Amino acid sequence: MKRVVSGIRATGQLHIGHLVGALQNYLKLQEEYQSFFFIADLHALTTNYEHTEMLKGNRVEVMLDMLSVGLDPQKCTLFVQSEVPEHTYLHLLLSMIVPIPWVERNPTVKEMIRDLNLKENASYGLLGYPILMTTDIIIYKAHYVPVGKDQLPHLEISREIVRRFNGLYGELFVEPQAMLTEFPYLPGVDGRKMSKSLDNDIKIADSQEQTTKKIMSAVTDPQKVRLHDIGHPDICTVFTYQKVFNKEESEEIKKDCKSGALGCVACKKRLAAKLNYSLKDIRAKRMELNNNIHGVEETFTEGSKKARSIATKTLEEAMSLMKIDGKSS
Ligand code: TRP
Repeated sequence: MKRVVSGIRATGQLHIGHLVGALQNYLKLQEEYQSFFFIADLHALTTNYEHTEMLKGNRVEVMLDMLSVGLDPQKCTLFVQSEVPEHTYLHLLLSMIVPIPWVERNPTVKEMIRDLNLKENASYGLLGYPILMTTDIIIYKAHYVPVGKDQLPHLEISREIVRRFNGLYGELFVEPQAMLTEFPYLPGVDGRKMSKSLDNDIKIADSQEQTTKKIMSAVTDPQKVRLHDIGHPDICTVFTYQKVFNKEESEEIKKDCKSGALGCVACKKRLAAKLNYSLKDIRAKRMELNNNIHGVEETFTEGSKKARSIATKTLEEAMSLMKIDGKSS
């Protein structure tokens, strides 16, 4: 069976963009592949190193999100990156063979530095982001990596690193392929990219009231000011959500928005009801899991042990090929 690996950075509770962009895809993959899904808490340090007090809490929140959507430890391996320290050792070994320009030209890292305004605070660890990500993947000899488009430059480096390692020391690693998921793009409620740091996201864990409030405040077509004004659903954030969470009614909503029959307030109320309905079971399960945090952590500890047994073996193979396994010949 082919292997799949994917990680989610632990920067806080996940939002509905993660749900439709990553988690729902993971649910399918756990049925068809030998899947490894993990919480990338070390990757969270690449930009959040000043706020490590958030790390433990964030980790638990992501655990709850992953389990509540239906990821099943019987079907996939769920683990925490920092609980498999072999990643960090292999990361160091790989960093020795990566030419500086490979990481310096990475557009996704450059974008992170710009968007987060890191400037001279951008760390050596952040520059190594794609090397750590490569380790996460190749230590399990994964064939496929489900990611969004923004992650493609990282995977390109991963394949280059694999070729370089295999060429220098011998065939060990598998060249991973991106598995691009065709998921609907969900902007934040203000129309910008959905993100926790922009405070424009709807969390999986939000209450119904919070969800409704956020949707009622969402930006719509700026030209539609009054109820009967003619709307342009194709440029409307709320309509983007309707297409994902209220597919059945979206054609009718489009027609009525364009004709001026449907106002934004009514449209938003319909969306809020649908979205809350589709998140109802996940949220109920999340509350239930929240009552047994110990059990939730136990699931990830068990998964980390399983992951670790594979990672250890690969690291040993890599060290042996590199002749740093402590044996005299
Ligand atoms: N860089 C990924 C993201 O931000 C997270 C990640 C870390 C990852 N390691 C990975 C994804 C390995 C896939 C495979 O979304």
